[in-house]
Amino acid sequence: MKSFKLNNGIDIPAIGFGTWQIPEGEEAYQAVTEALKVGYTHIDTAAIYGNEKSVGRAIKDSGIARDTLFITTKLWNTERGYDKTIAAFEKSLTDLGLAYIDLYLIHWPANESQFENWATINAETWKALEYLYQQGKVKAIGVSNFPKDYLAKLLETVTIVPAVNQIEFHPGYLQQETVDLCKSNGILVQAWSPLGSGRILQDETLIALAEQKDTSVGQICIKFALSQGILPLPKSTNPLNIKRNLTVDNFDLTEEDIQTISELPTMGFSGSDPKKVAF
Ligand code: A2P
Repeated sequence: MKSFKLNNGIDIPAIGFGTWQIPEGEEAYQAVTEALKVGYTHIDTAAIYGNEKSVGRAIKDSGIARDTLFITTKLWNTERGYDKTIAAFEKSLTDLGLAYIDLYLIHWPANESQFENWATINAETWKALEYLYQQGKVKAIGVSNFPKDYLAKLLETVTIVPAVNQIEFHPGYLQQETVDLCKSNGILVQAWSPLGSGRILQDETLIALAEQKDTSVGQICIKFALSQGILPLPKSTNPLNIKRNLTVDNFDLTEEDIQTISELPTMGFSGSDPKKVAF
Protein backbone atom coordinates (compact mmCIF):
# COMPACT_ATOMS: atom_id res chain seq x y z
CA MET A 1 0.00 0.00 0.00
CA LYS A 2 1.38 3.41 -0.99
CA SER A 3 1.33 6.15 1.59
CA PHE A 4 1.25 9.89 2.11
CA LYS A 5 3.50 11.56 4.64
CA LEU A 6 1.82 13.74 7.24
CA ASN A 7 3.35 17.06 8.29
CA ASN A 8 4.80 15.41 11.43
CA GLY A 9 6.61 12.75 9.40
CA ILE A 10 4.13 9.92 9.97
CA ASP A 11 3.17 7.73 7.03
CA ILE A 12 -0.52 7.26 6.33
CA PRO A 13 -1.74 4.54 3.93
CA ALA A 14 -2.94 6.25 0.75
CA ILE A 15 -6.42 4.70 0.66
CA GLY A 16 -8.49 4.31 3.80
CA PHE A 17 -11.59 2.25 4.43
CA GLY A 18 -14.51 4.53 5.35
CA THR A 19 -17.13 3.24 7.78
CA TRP A 20 -19.71 6.05 7.80
CA GLN A 21 -23.27 4.66 7.72
CA ILE A 22 -22.09 1.11 8.30
CA PRO A 23 -24.28 0.03 11.23
CA GLU A 24 -22.78 -1.12 14.51
CA GLY A 25 -22.83 -4.87 15.02
CA GLU A 26 -22.35 -7.62 12.48
CA GLU A 27 -22.40 -5.33 9.47
CA ALA A 28 -19.54 -3.12 10.65
CA TYR A 29 -17.65 -6.11 11.98
CA GLN A 30 -17.93 -8.00 8.69
CA ALA A 31 -17.11 -4.99 6.51
CA VAL A 32 -13.96 -4.12 8.47
CA THR A 33 -12.97 -7.79 8.69
CA GLU A 34 -13.28 -8.05 4.92
CA ALA A 35 -11.36 -4.80 4.38
CA LEU A 36 -8.50 -5.96 6.58
CA LYS A 37 -8.50 -9.34 4.85
CA VAL A 38 -8.08 -7.84 1.36
CA GLY A 39 -5.31 -5.47 2.40
CA TYR A 40 -6.64 -2.20 3.80
CA THR A 41 -4.39 -1.06 6.64
CA HIS A 42 -6.17 2.24 7.24
CA ILE A 43 -9.64 2.37 8.80
CA ASP A 44 -11.64 5.55 9.32
CA THR A 45 -14.41 5.69 11.90
CA ALA A 46 -15.96 8.28 14.24
CA ALA A 47 -17.73 8.33 17.58
CA ILE A 48 -20.98 9.42 15.89
CA TYR A 49 -20.93 6.48 13.49
CA GLY A 50 -21.73 4.38 16.54
CA ASN A 51 -19.61 1.51 15.23
CA GLU A 52 -16.32 1.96 17.12
CA LYS A 53 -16.91 -1.20 19.19
CA SER A 54 -17.39 -3.41 16.14
CA VAL A 55 -14.53 -1.73 14.28
CA GLY A 56 -12.29 -2.38 17.28
CA ARG A 57 -13.44 -5.98 17.56
CA ALA A 58 -12.70 -6.60 13.88
CA ILE A 59 -9.22 -5.09 14.31
CA LYS A 60 -8.51 -7.24 17.33
CA ASP A 61 -9.86 -10.45 15.78
CA SER A 62 -7.85 -9.87 12.58
CA GLY A 63 -4.69 -10.62 14.52
CA ILE A 64 -2.89 -7.96 12.46
CA ALA A 65 -0.11 -6.19 14.38
CA ARG A 66 -1.45 -2.90 15.73
CA ASP A 67 1.57 -0.92 14.62
CA THR A 68 0.98 -1.90 10.99
CA LEU A 69 -2.53 -0.39 11.06
CA PHE A 70 -3.63 3.22 10.88
CA ILE A 71 -6.85 3.99 12.77
CA THR A 72 -8.70 7.29 12.66
CA THR A 73 -11.62 8.38 14.81
CA LYS A 74 -13.34 11.71 15.38
CA LEU A 75 -14.68 13.91 18.13
CA TRP A 76 -18.44 14.42 17.91
CA ASN A 77 -19.94 17.90 17.95
CA THR A 78 -21.64 17.63 21.35
CA GLU A 79 -18.26 17.02 22.99
CA ARG A 80 -16.45 20.19 21.94
CA GLY A 81 -14.46 22.18 24.51
CA TYR A 82 -11.29 21.23 26.34
CA ASP A 83 -12.46 18.86 29.10
CA LYS A 84 -15.25 17.21 27.16
CA THR A 85 -12.90 16.54 24.27
CA ILE A 86 -10.45 14.69 26.50
CA ALA A 87 -13.24 12.58 28.01
CA ALA A 88 -14.67 11.82 24.55
CA PHE A 89 -11.26 10.75 23.31
CA GLU A 90 -10.88 8.34 26.23
CA LYS A 91 -14.31 6.86 25.48
CA SER A 92 -13.36 6.31 21.83
CA LEU A 93 -10.16 4.60 22.93
CA THR A 94 -12.15 2.31 25.23
CA ASP A 95 -14.84 1.58 22.64
CA LEU A 96 -12.22 0.76 20.02
CA GLY A 97 -10.27 -1.28 22.57
CA LEU A 98 -7.03 0.41 21.54
CA ALA A 99 -4.10 1.83 23.48
CA TYR A 100 -3.64 4.74 21.07
CA ILE A 101 -5.27 6.32 18.02
CA ASP A 102 -3.29 7.13 14.88
CA LEU A 103 -5.33 10.16 13.89
CA TYR A 104 -7.94 12.08 15.89
CA LEU A 105 -10.07 14.68 14.15
CA ILE A 106 -12.50 17.41 15.14
CA HIS A 107 -15.45 16.04 13.17
CA TRP A 108 -17.15 19.37 12.32
CA PRO A 109 -16.23 22.91 13.29
CA ALA A 110 -18.50 24.85 15.63
CA ASN A 111 -20.17 27.12 13.09
CA GLU A 112 -21.49 30.65 12.80
CA SER A 113 -25.10 29.46 12.39
CA GLN A 114 -25.09 27.98 15.87
CA PHE A 115 -22.49 29.87 17.88
CA GLU A 116 -21.45 33.49 18.10
CA ASN A 117 -18.13 32.35 19.59
CA TRP A 118 -17.60 29.54 17.09
CA ALA A 119 -13.94 30.43 16.51
CA THR A 120 -13.16 30.33 20.25
CA ILE A 121 -14.87 26.97 20.64
CA ASN A 122 -12.84 25.52 17.78
CA ALA A 123 -9.61 26.94 19.22
CA GLU A 124 -10.32 25.45 22.68
CA THR A 125 -11.21 22.08 21.24
CA TRP A 126 -8.01 22.15 19.20
CA LYS A 127 -5.99 22.83 22.39
CA ALA A 128 -7.33 19.55 23.80
CA LEU A 129 -6.21 17.70 20.69
CA GLU A 130 -2.76 19.27 21.03
CA TYR A 131 -2.65 18.05 24.64
CA LEU A 132 -3.61 14.50 23.62
CA TYR A 133 -0.94 14.59 20.95
CA GLN A 134 1.68 15.80 23.37
CA GLN A 135 0.68 12.98 25.75
CA GLY A 136 1.40 10.47 22.97
CA LYS A 137 -2.14 9.11 23.01
CA VAL A 138 -2.61 10.01 19.39
CA LYS A 139 0.03 9.97 16.65
CA ALA A 140 -1.45 12.81 14.62
CA ILE A 141 -4.28 15.33 14.99
CA GLY A 142 -6.43 17.10 12.48
CA VAL A 143 -9.78 18.55 11.56
CA SER A 144 -12.67 17.63 9.32
CA ASN A 145 -15.16 19.72 7.38
CA PHE A 146 -13.27 22.96 7.97
CA PRO A 147 -13.96 25.33 5.06
CA LYS A 148 -11.18 27.64 3.95
CA ASP A 149 -11.92 30.62 6.19
CA TYR A 150 -12.62 28.45 9.26
CA LEU A 151 -9.31 26.70 8.77
CA ALA A 152 -7.54 30.03 8.32
CA LYS A 153 -9.09 31.28 11.57
CA LEU A 154 -8.00 28.16 13.44
CA LEU A 155 -4.47 28.41 12.05
CA GLU A 156 -4.14 31.84 13.74
CA THR A 157 -4.39 30.13 17.15
CA VAL A 158 -2.67 26.77 16.83
CA THR A 159 0.62 25.59 18.26
CA ILE A 160 0.50 22.42 16.17
CA VAL A 161 -0.72 22.74 12.59
CA PRO A 162 -3.42 20.14 11.81
CA ALA A 163 -2.02 17.19 9.89
CA VAL A 164 -5.27 16.59 8.02
CA ASN A 165 -8.51 18.22 6.89
CA GLN A 166 -11.07 15.59 5.95
CA ILE A 167 -13.70 17.11 3.65
CA GLU A 168 -16.33 16.11 1.14
CA PHE A 169 -14.50 15.68 -2.14
CA HIS A 170 -15.47 13.88 -5.33
CA PRO A 171 -15.89 14.61 -9.03
CA GLY A 172 -18.43 17.41 -9.17
CA TYR A 173 -17.51 18.75 -5.74
CA LEU A 174 -13.87 19.72 -5.43
CA GLN A 175 -13.75 22.52 -2.79
CA GLN A 176 -10.70 23.84 -4.59
CA GLU A 177 -10.09 26.88 -2.35
CA THR A 178 -10.09 24.75 0.78
CA VAL A 179 -7.84 22.19 -0.85
CA ASP A 180 -5.42 24.95 -1.92
CA LEU A 181 -5.23 26.41 1.59
CA CYS A 182 -4.55 22.95 3.02
CA LYS A 183 -1.81 22.29 0.51
CA SER A 184 -0.12 25.61 1.11
CA ASN A 185 0.01 24.79 4.83
CA GLY A 186 1.18 21.20 4.46
CA ILE A 187 -2.21 19.82 5.56
CA LEU A 188 -3.19 16.56 3.88
CA VAL A 189 -6.71 16.56 2.46
CA GLN A 190 -8.75 13.42 2.97
CA ALA A 191 -11.86 12.82 0.87
CA TRP A 192 -15.05 11.63 2.49
CA SER A 193 -17.64 10.41 0.00
CA PRO A 194 -14.96 10.07 -2.68
CA LEU A 195 -17.62 8.33 -4.82
CA GLY A 196 -20.22 10.95 -3.97
CA SER A 197 -21.83 8.25 -1.79
CA GLY A 198 -23.10 6.64 -4.98
CA ARG A 199 -24.74 9.84 -6.31
CA ILE A 200 -22.31 10.34 -9.20
CA LEU A 201 -21.89 6.73 -10.33
CA GLN A 202 -24.38 7.21 -13.18
CA ASP A 203 -22.57 10.21 -14.65
CA GLU A 204 -22.07 9.58 -18.37
CA THR A 205 -18.61 11.13 -18.59
CA LEU A 206 -17.36 9.01 -15.69
CA ILE A 207 -19.00 5.88 -17.10
CA ALA A 208 -17.34 6.48 -20.50
CA LEU A 209 -13.95 6.95 -18.84
CA ALA A 210 -14.41 3.78 -16.77
CA GLU A 211 -15.35 1.78 -19.88
CA GLN A 212 -12.36 3.13 -21.78
CA LYS A 213 -10.02 2.10 -18.93
CA ASP A 214 -11.78 -1.21 -18.31
CA THR A 215 -12.44 -0.24 -14.72
CA SER A 216 -15.39 1.07 -12.66
CA VAL A 217 -16.57 4.60 -11.93
CA GLY A 218 -15.75 4.03 -8.27
CA GLN A 219 -12.14 3.25 -9.11
CA ILE A 220 -11.95 6.28 -11.42
CA CYS A 221 -13.10 8.48 -8.51
CA ILE A 222 -10.49 6.97 -6.18
CA LYS A 223 -7.72 7.39 -8.71
CA PHE A 224 -8.84 10.96 -9.36
CA ALA A 225 -8.56 11.84 -5.65
CA LEU A 226 -5.08 10.31 -5.53
CA SER A 227 -4.07 12.24 -8.65
CA GLN A 228 -4.86 15.43 -6.73
CA GLY A 229 -2.71 14.40 -3.76
CA ILE A 230 -5.90 13.69 -1.81
CA LEU A 231 -6.44 10.60 0.33
CA PRO A 232 -9.74 8.85 -0.49
CA LEU A 233 -11.83 7.03 2.11
CA PRO A 234 -14.21 4.87 0.06
CA LYS A 235 -16.91 3.04 1.94
CA SER A 236 -18.56 -0.22 1.04
CA THR A 237 -20.23 -3.22 2.59
CA ASN A 238 -19.98 -5.23 -0.63
CA PRO A 239 -16.90 -7.51 -0.68
CA LEU A 240 -16.46 -7.01 -4.43
CA ASN A 241 -16.43 -3.21 -4.11
CA ILE A 242 -14.29 -3.32 -0.96
CA LYS A 243 -11.63 -5.14 -2.94
CA ARG A 244 -12.07 -3.17 -6.15
CA ASN A 245 -11.62 0.14 -4.37
CA LEU A 246 -8.11 -0.87 -3.42
CA THR A 247 -7.27 -1.86 -6.99
CA VAL A 248 -6.37 1.33 -8.82
CA ASP A 249 -2.86 0.62 -10.05
CA ASN A 250 -3.97 -1.27 -13.16
CA PHE A 251 -5.01 1.82 -15.16
CA ASP A 252 -3.85 5.41 -15.62
CA LEU A 253 -5.59 8.74 -15.78
CA THR A 254 -3.96 11.08 -18.30
CA GLU A 255 -3.66 14.84 -17.79
CA GLU A 256 -6.57 15.17 -20.17
CA ASP A 257 -8.72 12.72 -18.20
CA ILE A 258 -7.96 14.61 -15.01
CA GLN A 259 -8.88 17.89 -16.71
CA THR A 260 -12.16 16.37 -17.95
CA ILE A 261 -13.08 15.14 -14.47
CA SER A 262 -12.06 18.43 -12.86
CA GLU A 263 -14.37 20.33 -15.20
CA LEU A 264 -17.49 18.27 -14.52
CA PRO A 265 -20.39 20.45 -13.38
CA THR A 266 -21.34 20.51 -9.72
CA MET A 267 -23.01 17.23 -8.80
CA GLY A 268 -23.46 14.82 -5.96
CA PHE A 269 -23.11 17.40 -3.15
CA SER A 270 -24.25 15.87 0.14
CA GLY A 271 -26.04 19.08 1.12
CA SER A 272 -24.05 19.37 4.35
CA ASP A 273 -22.54 22.86 4.36
CA PRO A 274 -20.27 23.04 7.43
CA LYS A 275 -21.15 26.71 7.99
CA LYS A 276 -24.86 25.97 8.09
CA VAL A 277 -25.39 22.49 9.49
CA ALA A 278 -27.55 22.41 12.60
CA PHE A 279 -25.80 19.45 14.22
P1 A2P B 1 -21.82 -0.80 -1.49
O1 A2P B 1 -21.72 -0.76 0.02
O2 A2P B 1 -22.95 -1.63 -1.97
O3 A2P B 1 -20.51 -1.08 -2.16
P2 A2P B 1 -18.76 6.82 -0.68
O4 A2P B 1 -17.54 6.07 -0.30
O5 A2P B 1 -18.52 7.94 -1.62
O6 A2P B 1 -19.57 7.24 0.53
O7 A2P B 1 -19.70 5.81 -1.50
C1 A2P B 1 -20.24 4.70 -0.86
C2 A2P B 1 -21.38 4.15 -1.71
O8 A2P B 1 -20.87 3.75 -2.98
C3 A2P B 1 -22.01 2.95 -1.10
O9 A2P B 1 -23.39 3.01 -1.41
C4 A2P B 1 -21.34 1.77 -1.79
O10 A2P B 1 -22.25 0.70 -1.92
C5 A2P B 1 -21.05 2.33 -3.15
N1 A2P B 1 -19.78 1.82 -3.69
C6 A2P B 1 -18.61 1.69 -3.06
N2 A2P B 1 -17.64 1.26 -3.89
C7 A2P B 1 -18.22 1.12 -5.09
C8 A2P B 1 -17.76 0.73 -6.37
N3 A2P B 1 -16.48 0.39 -6.56
N4 A2P B 1 -18.64 0.70 -7.39
C9 A2P B 1 -19.92 1.04 -7.19
N5 A2P B 1 -20.44 1.43 -6.01
C10 A2P B 1 -19.61 1.49 -4.97
